[in-house]
Amino acid sequence: MPIIAPSLLSANFLNLQADCDMLNQSQADWYHLDVMDGRFVPNISFGPMLVEFFRKATNKVCDVHLMIEEPEKYAEAFQKAGADNLTVHIEACRHLHRNIQQIKSLGMKAGVAINPHTSVESLADIISDIDLVCVMSVNPGFGGQSFIPNTLQKVAQLRRMIDEKGLQVLIEIDGGVTLGNAPDLIQAGADVLVAGNTVFRASDPMATIAALKAIG
Ligand code: DX5
Ligand code: ZN
Repeated sequence: MPIIAPSLLSANFLNLQADCDMLNQSQADWYHLDVMDGRFVPNISFGPMLVEFFRKATNKVCDVHLMIEEPEKYAEAFQKAGADNLTVHIEACRHLHRNIQQIKSLGMKAGVAINPHTSVESLADIISDIDLVCVMSVNPGFGGQSFIPNTLQKVAQLRRMIDEKGLQVLIEIDGGVTLGNAPDLIQAGADVLVAGNTVFRASDPMATIAALKAIG
């Protein structure tokens, strides 16, 4: 069964307690927390302070997706805030290997995200050092965008790379995931489904999470 990671970017920020209560009662596995700096991506969201509130609101895994430049400056702050997984973008890291070592030395699981234009091959020399690859299926910055279909063949290619090397790296899909495309993503080899609008705009978010969880 896939790991389901609702993106809180689509939650109601005037009543986060209600959305956290819903998620805690649901079959969601992770909280996916999207951090944006207005430089790496054209939007600003939230930082460690809010992650700390989410940490206190749940026992579920806090999966923090950094869409920021110079993530090394903030890794410790997110660790202190309670992040379990810290994902950085390959496009934002000049010294990716060093960034990964830093995240792991702080005791967090390390993830690398790739934008739609970034090839799976670019992960070849880092894949054995990380816990998770986040395959962006939209251009990062906003919730509610349409899924880019080319993602499917990237997932299959990544699945082959991971299996050929005998690794346990998780493949996470982020952006435009729906009940319609989730079965194909699982079929192609995805392990983790991030879902923002699909969950929080649903008439029954808990049932939608259960439906995503039941796929595969
Ligand atoms: C996009 C974020 C995503 C986004 C997903 O930049 O990284 O996590 O919130 O939202 P949906 O599922 O609505 O595309
Ligand atoms: Zn994300």
